[in-house]
Amino acid sequence: MYKNSLVSIEDLSNEEIEDILDLAQEMQQNLRAFPTLASGNIMASLFFEASTRTRGSFESAMNRLGGRTITTTGIGSSSLEKGETLADTVRVWSSYSDLIVLRHPWEGAARLAVDYASVPVINAGDGGHEHPTQTLCDLFTLRAEKRNLEGLKVALCGDLKHGRTVHSLIFGLLRFGAELYFVPGEGLDLPEHVKTKIEAQYKRPIEKIPAGDFQALYGGQTGGSQDGEPLDALYMTPSKPHLRTLFEDEPNFEFKTSPGREVVFYVTRRQTERETGSPSAQAPVGKYPRISKATMKKRFSRATVLHPLPRVDELSYDMDDDHRSKYFVQAAYGVPVRMALISLILELKPWKKAGERRAESQVEEPTIVATQGIECANPNCVTNRESQSCESRFLVFTEPQVRFTCNYCGWEIAPIFYGTQQRGRKIYKPIGKLRFKSQHQLFQFRFFCSEDEALGEGFVSVSSAVETAAPVFEVKD
Ligand code: NCD
Repeated sequence: MYKNSLVSIEDLSNEEIEDILDLAQEMQQNLRAFPTLASGNIMASLFFEASTRTRGSFESAMNRLGGRTITTTGIGSSSLEKGETLADTVRVWSSYSDLIVLRHPWEGAARLAVDYASVPVINAGDGGHEHPTQTLCDLFTLRAEKRNLEGLKVALCGDLKHGRTVHSLIFGLLRFGAELYFVPGEGLDLPEHVKTKIEAQYKRPIEKIPAGDFQALYGGQTGGSQDGEPLDALYMTPSKPHLRTLFEDEPNFEFKTSPGREVVFYVTRRQTERETGSPSAQAPVGKYPRISKATMKKRFSRATVLHPLPRVDELSYDMDDDHRSKYFVQAAYGVPVRMALISLILELKPWKKAGERRAESQVEEPTIVATQGIECANPNCVTNRESQSCESRFLVFTEPQVRFTCNYCGWEIAPIFYGTQQRGRKIYKPIGKLRFKSQHQLFQFRFFCSEDEALGEGFVSVSSAVETAAPVFEVKD
C-alpha cells in the first residue's frame, strides 16, 4: 500500500486483504461498539460522480467510528467547475482532513490525488478503471456466504469493458485462486490490457469455451444486431495458476464448460455513461446476460447472485426474494468493511497478518516516463485530462514481450521500436532486439509505437546506419 493509500486492489497484499476482512467481521458483530475509535479525525468525502452506496456507507462508517465527515458532491458544486485542477483541489482538501475518499470520472484520478495529497487517499471509483473498496465488500460477502475464498467459481456478467467493479474484482479473486467465467454483454468484453494482465502477470490463460448453461442468461432477448442467435462461446480462466514459464509445452489445467450449480454470478449493469463519445455510444443494446427466476431456473439451484448495484434491467426484481440473492446483504456490508478499512488506514487498529511486511510495499516501482517517447493512449486517463499535473509514467513488463502499462489508468502500450545513441547517431531498432539486465537501464532508451514516430524524432533504422556505424552498443549493466 503506497503512502497508506488505496488506489488499486493490487496495492493490497493478501495478508492486508485478510486483515481488513477479519476486522470487518469483528466490527460487523456490533457496529455500535466503536463509537470513539476515530474521534478527532475528519474524512473528506469527495464524490465528483454519482453515488448512493459507496458514499453513504463510507460516511456511515466514519460516523459509527466517531469521526466526522466533510463532503462535496458533483463537479458543479466545487471549484473544479471554475477550472481548478484536481491536483489543487486535493492539496487543499488534504489540509482540511485526515483522510480523502475520492470518486472521479477520470481514470487514474485517485493515483494523481495520492501524488498531491498529504493525507491517505482511498479510491472510491476512478472512471472505468478500478473500485477497490467495492471489491473488499464483494470478497467479504463471498467469505461470509462461502466460508472460504479459495477456489471459487465466479461468472462475471454484463459490462466487463467499462465496469470498474469487475476490473478490481478480477484481480482480487485471482489472488485467492478463483476460476473465472466471463459472460459479457455484446461488444462489452474485457479490455485487452485487463486480459493481458490476467494472462501475463497472473499466469492464468484465458480460454474460449462453449457457452453451455450460460446460454440461458441471454435467452429470449429483443434488440441488438444478432438478436435470436445463440451465444456459442465465452471465456474463462482455470482455477490453478498456469505455470507457463515452467511447463511451456505441458499445460496442466482443465477448462470446464459447466461451472456447476454452486457458481457465483456477479451481475453488472451496462455503464452507458462511459460510452459517451465512443463509437459504441450509438450501438444498439445487443445481447446482454440477464438474471431472473426464469433464466436461473434449477440449473443453478445453489448459485449465489451478487450485484454492486444500482441495477437497471439485467437483474429482475423477481429475484429479490430468492434464496440465492445476496446483493442487498452485500450493500449492507459496505459499512463494516469501510469501518475496518478506515481504522486500519488511519492506524487506529493494528495490521495483524500484514504486520511488518507492509513497510516493503511502500517502495515505488521503477517506471519509464513520457519524455522517453510514449504517452498513454487512453483519452480519459488523467495524464491526458490534466497533463499539467502529472507526467505519464509506465510500469515495465517483459512478458510476453516488452510492454508498458500506464501507472495511472493501467492501459497498455506495446512499443514496436526502441531508440538508442550509437557514437552520436540516433538509431532505432525492433523492440525484440532490446537487451537489458535491470529495468533501470530502460531510462537510457526512447520507445516508439510506429516507424513514423521514430523517423519524426530524427532516428534512423539500423540498416540505413550500418554503412557508417560501429558495432551495436548495448547497455550491459
Ligand atoms: C458501482 C460503481 O459505482 O462503479 N456501484 C457501486 O459503487 N456500488 C457499479 C455501477 O455504478 O454500476
